Amino acid sequence: MTDRYVVIGNPVAHSKSPLIHAAFATQTQQKIVYERLEAPIDGFIDSTAEFLAMGGSGCNVTVPFKEEAFRFANTLTERAELAGAVNTLWLDDEGVVGDNTDGAGLVRDLQRHIKLAGLRILLLGAGGAARGVLGPLLAEKPAQLVIANRSTDKAIALAKQFTKLGPVTGCGFAELPNQPFDLIINATSASLAGEALALPASIWQADGLAYDMMYSKAETPFLLQANAAGVRRRLDGLGMLVEQAAEAFFLWRGVRPETEAVLADLRTKL
Ligand code: ATR
Repeated sequence: MTDRYVVIGNPVAHSKSPLIHAAFATQTQQKIVYERLEAPIDGFIDSTAEFLAMGGSGCNVTVPFKEEAFRFANTLTERAELAGAVNTLWLDDEGVVGDNTDGAGLVRDLQRHIKLAGLRILLLGAGGAARGVLGPLLAEKPAQLVIANRSTDKAIALAKQFTKLGPVTGCGFAELPNQPFDLIINATSASLAGEALALPASIWQADGLAYDMMYSKAETPFLLQANAAGVRRRLDGLGMLVEQAAEAFFLWRGVRPETEAVLADLRTKL
């Protein structure tokens, strides 16, 4: 029987994951089926358990179920444990395994453009999206990683949980040091509301890289803000989306797909 996979979310109709995984499967000559599964808001566990019981091989988990998937998994990988969230599930002898490939996906996408070791990195936001990428970012040995958030206390609390892994501190936007960063990553959901972040002008530099974990056809509000501040290199999160999928595909299938052509093709379909 053909192995079956789904992306589970709510809503999930606009998920690009089926397109991406179908492209990976064709490229690597793997015979799989990958579909969308919309679970009721209060029905993530039932829907996932049913899919796996019916012979499903693995799931990607998206908004708003990543924390619930973390609690549902019987075994967690170290990076899922750190992230406090799960975006990839599969079965092994002991039950449901939960992993999180978001941070690895971000790092891989960034590495195509910049070397992370020794950089001064600013991470904006202190919610689930920020937490999910902190471990993999710190593993790349930046010189400094500052988490800045609208609510200062959340940034400080999040940084505290990761100090064992590297040089990370937390602050509010207004307390950001009067010094430019090499890499500024937006992990807030402010773009969704089309809102600009209240950031001091001192953080930007023309040769730095601005990265928005969100993506859209037109430049995101955060990248427009970076552009207005003179930052020449700007990337959105479509590359991260493709890379986290490639990492999940590798976990499930044992084959690592090429991502560049898949990303280029996806860009034309936005
Ligand atoms: P996610 O899982 O996407 O990270 P979340 O956990 O709700 O979602 O976190 C949203 C993040 O975006 C938070 O860091 C939030 O800041 P607060 O902690 O101060 O709420 C940030 N955010 C959302 N809208 C924002 C805005 N308009 N300006 C600045 N930060 C915003």
